[in-house]
Amino acid sequence: ELEFSLRPKTLNEYIGQDKVKENLAVYIEAARRRGEPLDHVLLYGPPGLGKTTLAGIIAQEMGVNLRITSGPAIEKAGDLAALLTNLSENDVLFIDEIHRLSRAVEEVLYPAMEDNALDIVIGKGPSANSIRVDLPKFTLVGATTRAGQLTSPLRDRFGIIQRLELYPPEQLCDIIRRSSMLLGIPCEYDGAMELARRARGTPRIANRLLKRVRDFADVMGDGRISRQIACTALDKLEIDELGLDSLDKRMLQMIIKGYNGGPVGLETLASAIGEEAVTLEDVCEPYLMQLGFLSRTPRGRCATQLAYQHLGIPQEGSQDGQL
Ligand code: ADE
Repeated sequence: ELEFSLRPKTLNEYIGQDKVKENLAVYIEAARRRGEPLDHVLLYGPPGLGKTTLAGIIAQEMGVNLRITSGPAIEKAGDLAALLTNLSENDVLFIDEIHRLSRAVEEVLYPAMEDNALDIVIGKGPSANSIRVDLPKFTLVGATTRAGQLTSPLRDRFGIIQRLELYPPEQLCDIIRRSSMLLGIPCEYDGAMELARRARGTPRIANRLLKRVRDFADVMGDGRISRQIACTALDKLEIDELGLDSLDKRMLQMIIKGYNGGPVGLETLASAIGEEAVTLEDVCEPYLMQLGFLSRTPRGRCATQLAYQHLGIPQEGSQDGQL
């Protein structure tokens, strides 16, 4: 599919996340030289930053197959057992949303990760017995939005743990220019930069916006992505100059107008605006915190002075907005 073809296939093509790339390059080279599978890798960070892409790159650079699944998709222990027994030697198994594995499934994973073995329990109660079956050696690449959600026995079994960060606009701009080349979209530097500034640090959003802005450029312009057509399109998409969308704004406005700027607990806030707490926490908060619009305190979320300023709301009880 189109989306898939935009994914870089090698570490060299992958833009940004320099520390992650440098470290992975060493681990991959070392494992290759030894003819061993790469140690298990845990990737964490906000959605859309390239965790699945990195799993694909790891498999490609190791010269092995990639199998993709997700925590919620593996319902029973037997589902995971079937996946594991069908791997080839040194394959990469990618489990997205790995924090959502059930306890029973997670327990199948422990001996698989540690000893390349599957323990099959036979019988019930006092006469229960287990048989150990050997598995092919493999690399588990797990992805999660927050490593804190993982149980410690699972987290402890990953030899490589890497956190992905939101991308700075300059790197998003490079990603957009690369994508527009691959898609054959004429794109001016200023147009790409405008998109980059409004893509909230996230390549997935940058690539999605690129496709929507292209639609506006084709229909309302000459097909080129200029700064002007980018601004027109992004305004229509209700994405503001800093990349905030209507959900980000609803969240900040509720803190400010509904709770006097906070603190307000995440669950309270989520139900007040009719969203799920995890969506606010995983999708909105990382970017709002990076912008310095939101602070998380033990008593709940607070809107900062910068947030008031950006939304054009005067801060009560302060002449010049000091906190
Ligand atoms: N497309 C999406 N994410 C990318 C990245 N980090 N580098 C290059 N192309 C990408």
